[in-house]
Amino acid sequence: MQIVVQHFETIDSTNLEAARQAEQGAVEGTCIVAREQTRGRGRQQRVWLSPPNAGIYLSLILRPRIEVSSWPLITLMAAVAVTDTLKDVSGVDADIKWPNDVLVGDRKISGILAETVETPFGRAVVLGIGLNLKRDSSLDHLHGIATALNEVTTFTGAAEDVLATLLKNLDKTYSGLTADGGAHATLRAWVARSSYAQGKHVRIVCGPETLEGVTRGLNSDGALKLETTQGDLRIIHAGDVRAERMKAEG
Ligand code: BTN
Repeated sequence: MQIVVQHFETIDSTNLEAARQAEQGAVEGTCIVAREQTRGRGRQQRVWLSPPNAGIYLSLILRPRIEVSSWPLITLMAAVAVTDTLKDVSGVDADIKWPNDVLVGDRKISGILAETVETPFGRAVVLGIGLNLKRDSSLDHLHGIATALNEVTTFTGAAEDVLATLLKNLDKTYSGLTADGGAHATLRAWVARSSYAQGKHVRIVCGPETLEGVTRGLNSDGALKLETTQGDLRIIHAGDVRAERMKAEG
């Protein structure tokens, strides 16, 4: 994939801009990057606070030529790319909370929001990634939940270097996903980087239902297998996962 970056000082949301451009026929690899977002969007209609120069806010347009059943793996491959980027630029070992929150020290440093867009040129995916680089006072109320690269490492490099490394890793993980056997390779890479894959005691809010149990790996489409405390095996396609402390199981 050839990634071509468009830089914006400020924008409503890089995901919205990427969707607008996808509808106009922008090709795979078109990447929108902004220094600030005024309407940054998170999962489940949440807001993604995006103060100027405090993080990387990017959206990549994909037009995947893989089976639709594997499309949920796009967010997992992105989480792998973010985790590898943090390791490359700072040496830090990040964790991935299912499906795609990247954590350092149990706090969220990066979030991923993939949205499908119907376009006259076929269905596209807008892959949005927010990565906190600097602690910003607007995130103070998220203390204990969110963190930033400059809070957890001695990284003092330029945002441009982190962006370049992230794009290189995204290119690699996306090539991996779209290659023969790529779904399995992506799942393996995700599992190798996530403490949430196996034997983690979690509580999961799925719409009106709250489930508790122990994680038992991923399905081939990236869904999370949960053995509930009642002993049922549940397949979770969407939900908010929270680790239950002191109850990790081997
Ligand atoms: C989450 O809730 O964890 C997902 C957050 C995704 C935020 C990124 S920032 C760049 C892109 N543009 C958006 O409006 N959202 C995503």
